[in-house]
Amino acid sequence: MTRPKIVVTRRIPENGIELLKRYFTVDLNKSDKDLSQDRLTKRLDGAFGVVAMMANKFDSETLDDLQTVRVISNFAVGFNNVDVSAATKKGIVVTNTPGVLTDATADMTIGLMLATARRIAEGDRLVRAGKFRGWTPTYMLGQEVSGKTIGIVGAGRIGTAVARRSIGFGMKVLYHSRGHKTEIDSIGGSLVSLEKLLAACDFVSVNVALNDQTFGLIGRKELALMKPAAILINTARGEVVDEIALISALKRKKIAGAGLDVFVNEPKINPEFMKLDNVVLVPHLGSATFETRAKMSEMVAMNAIAVLKGERPPGILNPELLEKSKV
Ligand code: GLV
Repeated sequence: MTRPKIVVTRRIPENGIELLKRYFTVDLNKSDKDLSQDRLTKRLDGAFGVVAMMANKFDSETLDDLQTVRVISNFAVGFNNVDVSAATKKGIVVTNTPGVLTDATADMTIGLMLATARRIAEGDRLVRAGKFRGWTPTYMLGQEVSGKTIGIVGAGRIGTAVARRSIGFGMKVLYHSRGHKTEIDSIGGSLVSLEKLLAACDFVSVNVALNDQTFGLIGRKELALMKPAAILINTARGEVVDEIALISALKRKKIAGAGLDVFVNEPKINPEFMKLDNVVLVPHLGSATFETRAKMSEMVAMNAIAVLKGERPPGILNPELLEKSKV
């Protein structure tokens, strides 16, 4: 019996491929380049599913071209690359990988906070350039993290994990969300308006999903509310922050620094960022640990296999399809 085809648009850790091979014929893009939209659509001809990366865009036009695809299994927790409601209309199940990357991404958020506050990347550049002339009491001072206030914008799984870590650092935690979140409340977080959070915090961490409501959420007006000594950390999506406004705020010292794992137009980086010493730039590594990527690989496979078997995928984003078709 021929197995249904699943396209995997980028190399993923082998454990996921092995799982998929038990049920599917795996068509893996082995090249080091993302498939163009055109090639992706062609490759998906006749496929039952696709393990997709965030660079693969599934807008309603692309979805209209997919005649056989029943599942888009996104290798990410973010799913702004997929028009989920258009997929639902077409009866295509969309899944993501929540939970398994929470700790890794929260760790990266804290790493960026420390790296920016304590000038770690800047110090590394200086040492490599042979410019370390010796310790002095006033040399390269940064900002203490302990005892400070962090504001978490978006109190989902990752935001809550950032809160837990911040409490461990002796920080006060404010958060902004649509409503109270019991988990973050129970560890001492306080829900406040975005305006109050921005004005009160020494560190602001962006942990919201990108969607129409959060696009450009932190713009010129919001940055102007922040303290001049404050540091902004973004491990969510570049588009949540207005990059031009951020660059201007950093240049004019309206805020003290930024730690960024995500950018608008990745992998292109606005060259203005490179000129700024008070910015730490990381190439979208939030979930990039061996352990987490293996778990994500397993989860994308399990999501696709569940759809094939007519079971509920653990990361389903359009569960309403289950009621309709008993997937
Ligand atoms: C990475 O950015 C993800 O959404 O998993």
